[in-house]
Amino acid sequence: MSEDLNIVAGTKAEQYESLIPQIQGLLEGEPDIVANLGNIVAALKEQFNWLWIGFYLVKPTFANASYSDKASPDKWMDKEELVLGPFQGPVACTRIRKGKGVCGTSWERAQTIIVPDVEKFPGHIACSILSRSEIVVPVIRNKEVIGVLDVDSRELDRFDQTDQFYLEKILELIKF
Ligand code: SME
Repeated sequence: MSEDLNIVAGTKAEQYESLIPQIQGLLEGEPDIVANLGNIVAALKEQFNWLWIGFYLVKPTFANASYSDKASPDKWMDKEELVLGPFQGPVACTRIRKGKGVCGTSWERAQTIIVPDVEKFPGHIACSILSRSEIVVPVIRNKEVIGVLDVDSRELDRFDQTDQFYLEKILELIKF
């Protein structure tokens, strides 16, 4: 397919419905995971113009890393953590521990989490002060969470079940 996206107006569902076949086209025949995750976040950012969208991937823990929550990294014994992957938007924190923030909680629970107001989510990690609401969708393969897709908006209460439905559908298209 051509590399130009067809951006449409309309309801949220109509926008996702238009985007999904285009994302399928972008992924078709391309095995490289970085290329594919990069194109998915670019396509979603271009259609919806959210503040930030990106993947965090489950990777082996890196001793002495600088952690987003600043809590004694030397006491951190988990073998895995989330590490920033392809994203679009302002620079972001690179490593998030299991159970921390919205991303780490989504990983721990293996569930999508919709946060209408980030200030009301205990332990929310504020990578940008401009973020007001957020959705985090886990990427699950063979019953294991292998990463999460995180989306942040400048507006309160921006995400709902429609976003959850379509974002989960988009994540199923990825061949890891
Ligand atoms: N807010 C997220 C951290 C990642 S940034 O938003 C890009 C969280 O609480 O897990």
